[in-house]
Amino acid sequence: MNRRKVLIVTGAAAAAGVAALVAERAVRDRGGPDRPAGVPVGPFGADSTAEEVTAGLDLSGKVALVTGVNSGLGAETLRVLTLRGAHVLGTARTLEKATAACAAAGDRATPFALELTDFDSVVACAAAVRREGVVLDMLVCNAGIMALPQLEQVNGLEKHFVTNHLGHFLLVNRLLDRVVAAPQGRVVVVSSRGYLWAPPGGIEFDNLSGERGEYDPNRAYGQSKLANGLFSLELARRLGRTRATSNSVHPGIIRTNLGRHFPRWKKLLSEVIGWSFMKSIPAGAATQCYVATNPRLAGVSGRYFINCNPEIPGGRMEDAALAAKLWAVSEELTRPWLGSVDAS
Ligand SMILES: NC(=O)c1ccc[n+]([C@@H]2O[C@H](COP(=O)([O-])OP(=O)(O)OC[C@H]3O[C@@H](n4cnc5c(N)ncnc54)[C@H](OP(=O)(O)O)[C@@H]3O)[C@@H](O)[C@H]2O)c1
Repeated sequence: MNRRKVLIVTGAAAAAGVAALVAERAVRDRGGPDRPAGVPVGPFGADSTAEEVTAGLDLSGKVALVTGVNSGLGAETLRVLTLRGAHVLGTARTLEKATAACAAAGDRATPFALELTDFDSVVACAAAVRREGVVLDMLVCNAGIMALPQLEQVNGLEKHFVTNHLGHFLLVNRLLDRVVAAPQGRVVVVSSRGYLWAPPGGIEFDNLSGERGEYDPNRAYGQSKLANGLFSLELARRLGRTRATSNSVHPGIIRTNLGRHFPRWKKLLSEVIGWSFMKSIPAGAATQCYVATNPRLAGVSGRYFINCNPEIPGGRMEDAALAAKLWAVSEELTRPWLGSVDAS
């Protein structure tokens, strides 16, 4: 990159950081974010850690499946849920990685291989989980990728959409009866405020290959994270007559391995100014741990949480028609692996 380009992107990124801080200030000034009616607001916030939001809870006897436990937020979620007594079924892309990630939790964690871009692997993981003969009190769809620099595809579909959305869509559907069978099963889908980067129409159903137009890493990530939120919304609707719930979360901005595909200038920038707005990993994992475990949220479903509290999201995140269409298209795309699914 030449000097001029470096200056432009650095300036743009710095401006984006400042814009984020200004937006946060504006929210504070108008008395906080918009909250959905009827959803409890708790005492926790942006700085609360996963340990703090679960303090005093006894999760013994409960089982949680968490995807992506070998890194970042998934590793912290595994650590804290097992600390509180839950048994965690921890997935990683290989059994070796999952085994290493689960080791510190001793007999409180069981490793599973799950490669979300390989639907045979997703089906095999679900089958292995079913053989455990347990119900799932929590299913945390955490694993994800961000900002692949070039267009990558899996079986002709854009890779963020496959990894972040379709793989989890298939996993959840293959295990949904296990969630519904729990006393109060909870699906927690880790989305992102990056959903705001999705294309103007939301999900480009006529361009799921990503081949049309110029590839934009943020837009591809944004579309997949919008898909995460819409999936949770439609799942909540379908779970309506059960005790089970589904919610999505934005964990904040946290320095994890998620930025591994960022260009060097962006990595450098996050080192230099990241301290001013980034959360620690323990704080980043707090919202998903809170939504997965807090007793006051029993029955709360179809909501979006940030900083351990519910917020009304913007954009297309609450577009029920789009969510229903996404579900139908996702069913078609995973049909050979889906099997028959009945959540009721
Ligand atoms: N960090 C943030 O600022 C931030 C902000 C908003 C939302 N999020 C969301 O938070 C979640 C966790 O991200 P993180 O920040 O903890 O990132 P991370 O440290 O990179 O962890 C991501 C996890 O996902 C796994 N993964 C990636 N591709 C996979 C695949 N094809 N199949 C199965 N597992 C796969 C990774 O496994 P490998 O290590 O083997 O690749 C890793 O375990 C993601 O959904 C992300 O979108 C994060």
